[in-house]
Amino acid sequence: MNYAEPMLREDALKDKVAIVTGGGSGLGKAMTKYFLQLGAKVVITSRNLEKLQNTAKELEAETGGKVLAVACDVRNYDEVEAMKEAALKEFGKIDILLNNAAGNFISPTERLSANAFDTIIDIVLKGSKNCTLSIGKHWIDSKTKGTVLNIVTTYAWTGSAYVVPSATAKAGVLAMTRSLAVEWAKYGIRTNAIAPGPFPTKGAWDRLLPGDLQEKFDMTKKVPLRRVGDHQELANLAAYLVSDFSAYVNGEVITIDGGEWLQGAGQFNMLDQIPTEMWDMLEAMIKAKKNG
Ligand code: COA
Repeated sequence: MNYAEPMLREDALKDKVAIVTGGGSGLGKAMTKYFLQLGAKVVITSRNLEKLQNTAKELEAETGGKVLAVACDVRNYDEVEAMKEAALKEFGKIDILLNNAAGNFISPTERLSANAFDTIIDIVLKGSKNCTLSIGKHWIDSKTKGTVLNIVTTYAWTGSAYVVPSATAKAGVLAMTRSLAVEWAKYGIRTNAIAPGPFPTKGAWDRLLPGDLQEKFDMTKKVPLRRVGDHQELANLAAYLVSDFSAYVNGEVITIDGGEWLQGAGQFNMLDQIPTEMWDMLEAMIKAKKNG
């Protein structure tokens, strides 16, 4: 058994209906695939209908599950409402909302136009708000239970240079996660988040580490476990958090990053670079101080 294998029992999401925004590619696609394998029906959304339809076809063939592809720009509330109606028409209910769609690119903040900043805020924060509000209102009005899972990032709480619109928006999504976990619990709605570290996908890597930056900045060196994440590991955690097995988990943000953000945070973490032999010498020097 290893971390790249499916974790939950095969019927863990049987008869559940999930909406996965940004489900046509990357991590959204990986999580969609696993939800299907666990028995869920999945609505995948993005702006690119052709890409979605190809993914839907591919995943249906691979898993035997049912996928509905719906074009939807999460920035637009009317499109989100239409996507929700399409999901209800096709599957009769919605159990799970996975706010995964995101937009991001690296840039010194002073180089950004106001529209560039807005674009990221709109996709990430407004998009997550639009979907959560639309589906949440439906759950409350129809007295059905549901669960929201938001994909954030560890820099939602540390902040990060050069991705300031994304950091700002993800911090908002995290605040929304914790706020609604309390406010909507009375309706049977759980709200949680995952903060993934480096899980390489083509879309993200081409935007966040373009050109030869991927060779220049070896992401594995930033991670105490010295590797990047496997998509199945994230899918395992996501499936658990949207399944009934996590029924008592609410308002949590689970970091899955191999310890990456803490490596950057701990004041003396750089001492990791000191070889074992040198510790004998350092210990002797420190002890000598006591007597000196
Ligand atoms: N540096 C600075 N500004 C940039 C930029 C960059 N690398 N990329 C886009 N912008 C600016 C544009 O110039 C535009 O501003 P302007 O109108 O003042 O010129 C603004 O951002 C919007 O760009 P546009 O391409 O019109 O937006 P879009 O809605 O078509 O695309 C993005 C949204 C920019 C997020 C695009 O990268 C995208 O679609 N990404 C796909 C999803 C994604 O990013 N996933 C996350 C991976 S980590």
